Amino acid sequence: MEVFQIEGGHPITGQVTVEGAKNSALKLMAATIMAPGVTTLTNVPNISDVHVMGKVLKRLGASVVVVDEHTLEIDTSTVDRWETPYELVAKMRASTAVLGPLIARFGRAVVAMPGGCNIGARKIDMHLLGLQCLGVHFENEHGDINASIPNGMHGDTVTLDFASVGATENLMMASVFAEGVTTIDNAAREPEIVDLANMLNAMGARISGAGSPLIEIEGVRELHPVKHQVVGDRIEAGTYVAVGALCGDPVRVSGFNPLHLGLVLKKYEQMGITIERHHDGCTVSRTEPLRACDIQTLPFPGFPTDMQAQTMTLLALAQGSSVVTENVFENRFIAASELNRMGADIRIEGHHAVVHGVERLQGTQVKSPDLRGGAALVMAALAAEGTTTISGISHIDRGYEHFCEKLTSLGAKISRIEIDDDPDED
Ligand code: UD1
Repeated sequence: MEVFQIEGGHPITGQVTVEGAKNSALKLMAATIMAPGVTTLTNVPNISDVHVMGKVLKRLGASVVVVDEHTLEIDTSTVDRWETPYELVAKMRASTAVLGPLIARFGRAVVAMPGGCNIGARKIDMHLLGLQCLGVHFENEHGDINASIPNGMHGDTVTLDFASVGATENLMMASVFAEGVTTIDNAAREPEIVDLANMLNAMGARISGAGSPLIEIEGVRELHPVKHQVVGDRIEAGTYVAVGALCGDPVRVSGFNPLHLGLVLKKYEQMGITIERHHDGCTVSRTEPLRACDIQTLPFPGFPTDMQAQTMTLLALAQGSSVVTENVFENRFIAASELNRMGADIRIEGHHAVVHGVERLQGTQVKSPDLRGGAALVMAALAAEGTTTISGISHIDRGYEHFCEKLTSLGAKISRIEIDDDPDED
């Protein structure tokens, strides 16, 4: 089993560049299905979730060529299957992003029904209800969603109950070839949605309003392949901003648009952190103690749920008490109990976490519960006294390219080591 071993207390400073956004790259890869031919994606992060999406596309008949570490050439002219099996959906829920593109191109799709995951039940009912409005028929057979369009697809207005990222993306993709105009009301506004709409429009789609709560898609007959650069990863960036904020010495984070982290940076300033914004990132530093601050997660432009755990680590070491409210996922506080094992004082009450700041954390053995919770534990270990061993790091590999190497370049003492026994096993 691989673990991270981290010796805390070393100065962290320097410059780090983030990769393309995981949450964008996965959907852009899925969208290539709709434009038969070779699409080139650049600035693709080299992370395990992207490898899984590559396998999904290959299973459908595409060829995925790794031109260099961050460039993929995806040839979808050979796609001739429309089934995505449970073994891949179970590895990564975002595999369900192929549902919309497969329906658009073939008029049918068979995608395994995703189960829940560590951060909650994560249903896809809104995806299915929205697609039904556009004429898609579903049958649930042996754990698979079997989709067809017996009478073709037609535009309609779909009002989402919640601004779901995945539902907005699946609907936007599925409706590209629908007859007439589709309107998505209460659409998600994340920068990754805008990136997807930009690529689809470059391919020949007619999508307007992406980035606002009202997206309109006018059906077209076909899409053509393009070359597209994935938008910078605001969550990877936010994680390094949080690392810099925690340790205090200046850290310059580049490769992303600081407007994509608007509320995070504002809240961090309220916590006593200095942020200097640049056109391609920001520099973070801190000379005064961290101050308590209340945060609540919400869809973009609200505070991102994907930055909640890392921010909890900052608040665990801040002066005073903070309340963190999680409004997006029902089970996203698992890292808190691991932080408490390191000496934090966090009490969970429903979807609130009450964080009483402590003066120091101490290294011990902890387990990464999920992707962002894992990053939060790495941060805690960087600031803690002594050595921390973090297991469950495959979660972290899903979303952070070269995490160890990037942190080492900033001065951290972190190594990935193989150990014999699994302390988490019964
Ligand atoms: C995406 C991101 C994830 C991020 C999340 C919210 C990817 C690969 N993942 O996940 O990193 O944390 O957005 O910003 O892009 N829901 C339903 N029914 C549905 C759809 C969603 O009940 O049909 C619920 C979910 O269980 C969750 C909430 O709505 O509680 C938000 O989910 P959603 O915005 O869809 O997140 P994802 O697209 O899964």
